[in-house]
Amino acid sequence: MEYQLCPSILSADFNRLGEQIKTLEKEGIKWLHIDVMDGDFVPSISFGMPVIRSIRKESGMFFDVHLMVSAPERYIQDFVDCGADSITVHAEACEDLERAIELIRDAGVRAGVSIKPATPVNDISHLLEDVDLVLVMTVQPGFGGQKYINDCTEKIEELRELIDKEDLDVDIQVDGGINDVTMETVIRAGANLLVAGSYVFKGDLASNVKQIKKKMQKIIDTVE
Ligand code: DX5
Ligand code: ZN
Repeated sequence: MEYQLCPSILSADFNRLGEQIKTLEKEGIKWLHIDVMDGDFVPSISFGMPVIRSIRKESGMFFDVHLMVSAPERYIQDFVDCGADSITVHAEACEDLERAIELIRDAGVRAGVSIKPATPVNDISHLLEDVDLVLVMTVQPGFGGQKYINDCTEKIEELRELIDKEDLDVDIQVDGGINDVTMETVIRAGANLLVAGSYVFKGDLASNVKQIKKKMQKIIDTVE
């Protein structure tokens, strides 16, 4: 299984965004998590296509776009055009979730589906053959720096069991409240893509990434 630390630029210093992305790249980060918020599906507004288009020019990282947007099917092609390599939509945000996933696939990028903490795995389990990743939100979507919701661990375990049972090639991504402690919890539960905002960006970025990657590898070594 491929494990990745996916820094979320929501916690970046936007005045130095390009520089910080270069630092991440230099430290061997492969996945960049990009949180788009519309002020409707979630209370806050973050950024959109122009920012992604601009950072795309300078970065070869895998752009993992998390759309916290109502009716995201309206924007799939726009996000592909501005540089997304993967697009994740929320199950709760789509009127026709199957159609939204089909649109992402037809646009030629990887497709992800996300569930909020209160949404059961059961709501998306019929789609596991159609997606590349399932994003389990471990905080309420909308803001960085929140506390990990413990009840979500069971959902990660449930998903891991379903995916392994069917021998499917689907990544389990977690997003929200990842730190020294919860990193271990989610890896043991079966997650392999770890989104982290404040954990990565608070303080010295380069040394944080070095330390987090080391700790993450240690945990992975004990589960494999
Ligand atoms: C929350 C976003 C997250 C956020 C995570 O709605 O989807 O990606 O940046 O931030 P931390 O790691 O600080 O909880
Ligand atoms: Zn996110």
